Amino acid sequence: MSNPTIMVIGSINVDLVTVTDNLPDQGETLLGNQFHINPGGKGANQAVAAARLGANVQMIGKVGQDSNGEDMLKALEKENVSTTMIESVSNVSTGIANIILSNHDNRIIIVPGANNEVTPEYVKQYKEEILKSDLVLLQFEIPLETVMYCLDLCKEYDIPVVLNPAPAREMPEAYWLMATYITPNETEAERLFSEKDSNLNHKLIITKGEHGVSYSMNNERFIVPSYSVEPIDTTGAGDTFNGALSVALSEGLDLPSAINFANAAAALSIQKFGAQGGMPTRSEVQSFLQ
Ligand code: RIB
Repeated sequence: MSNPTIMVIGSINVDLVTVTDNLPDQGETLLGNQFHINPGGKGANQAVAAARLGANVQMIGKVGQDSNGEDMLKALEKENVSTTMIESVSNVSTGIANIILSNHDNRIIIVPGANNEVTPEYVKQYKEEILKSDLVLLQFEIPLETVMYCLDLCKEYDIPVVLNPAPAREMPEAYWLMATYITPNETEAERLFSEKDSNLNHKLIITKGEHGVSYSMNNERFIVPSYSVEPIDTTGAGDTFNGALSVALSEGLDLPSAINFANAAAALSIQKFGAQGGMPTRSEVQSFLQ
């Protein structure tokens, strides 16, 4: 199969990363160790992950008309992600993620800014391009009604959708059912899905960090083990997983093999700093798997 075309409809953020040994208590000031400004946003991260693995990636999104927005567009172009459907909007700033990285794990606060302007009306103008894609990849950092519009459209035209429900947000069950696969982490799965959602079970691919990834087949749940590596920065591990999973599924791998491929990509990604910093190329994943 030729390289798949993946459409990412999602967020673009600038990650403001503070590295610290300790977290401050309420009202406390601490000295941190390092500060970095990195490209981020779950949408952009997943787009870059898929592009590094060789997919043709297009992205629909918005940035502000500011230097952060310019930098994020350049960063995406450098990664061969098509930015022709990303608009720079005035009067609102590019999305920001304040990230505190401590003990190789992160805490994140997002200010969505321009990501909130990715409305259904905006996305609608790219309907033709969406329908030409092999797979659509969605997250929850743009307005929920836009995600619901995309799910509806893709269902109608039979375009596979991987929906990464991060950060966790409630949605009517009819829309969850429109996704091909739903990829929460353990916390998001606990918050969003319960036993009552047994009719969603076959769509749920739950990432559980070092405990592997669970998926369902013939009404039974199975685990694909994760690879044990020493983490430097877990930011973007889920995004790498989703980008890689989407590439592997579009290339026709069966579900457990696609999850294994995505696990390898995620394991490589957490060994370097930054959400996108450690995202591997295809050959890096292949040598890791050998
Ligand atoms: O998943 C990691 C991402 O979440 C970061 O890059 C940050 O921008 C937030 O969107």
